[in-house]
Amino acid sequence: MIRVAIDGPAGVGKSSTSKALAQHFAFAYLDTGAMYRSCAWWCLQQGFDLDAPTLNEEAITEAVGEFFTEGHFDVSLDPQNPKVLCDGQDISEAIRSSEVSSHVSRVSGIIPVRHVLIAAQRAYMAGEADEESFSKGAGIVAEGRDITTVVAPDAEVRILLTAREEVRQARRSGQASLAAGVGRDDVAARDKADSLVTSFLTAADGVHTVDNSDLTFEQTLDVLIQLVDEAI
Ligand code: C5P
Repeated sequence: MIRVAIDGPAGVGKSSTSKALAQHFAFAYLDTGAMYRSCAWWCLQQGFDLDAPTLNEEAITEAVGEFFTEGHFDVSLDPQNPKVLCDGQDISEAIRSSEVSSHVSRVSGIIPVRHVLIAAQRAYMAGEADEESFSKGAGIVAEGRDITTVVAPDAEVRILLTAREEVRQARRSGQASLAAGVGRDDVAARDKADSLVTSFLTAADGVHTVDNSDLTFEQTLDVLIQLVDEAI
């Protein structure tokens, strides 16, 4: 099983590139950001005030644990149809709202919450949830902020995808104006908060850095395909 770990800041094009990479190799695809977004969405649904100056971390961790262990959460690992479900309801669009975007870092900053998600992500990356998947355990592309360093530091391919901040902000604003359901997203504020708990601004030892500020989508994809080809 080839595990491809891709980290990087918001708005760098991780999701679209990772999905295309997974499709190219017929691998499974895991968007770990969607998992954290789903947790924030769930907490908002449960009535937690995520603007409170101090969060009840214990209660939030319990709610998140329940969300995963009691079967509320489900995700499709198909890169052509990467859905996130809650109790069978497709929440893929709801988790991209500006309300979720502006609160997700508070939830992902709770260390015990991270432990719940990291365990679930490691299970996906070990192929445990992939028996019926089209990828048949051939490989998985997982993207996020701490995949190369914490979730799968022993992955066969580890990549830090990065781009200059103004380029990322422009890409995110473009997405927000083009796609209904994708809310305004202050990527700089999110990166600042996220970088307090995860290290995705510089590459760890052995991680390939790919700066795509001046690359097209296809050129970026070609670079990543080559990195995976070298590992196969
Ligand atoms: O990738 P995306 O921008 O959708 O991620 C949403 C949020 O999830 C990030 O801003 C961060 O707070 C959190 N996240 C994380 N660790 C990951 C992936 C995402 O903390 N591996």
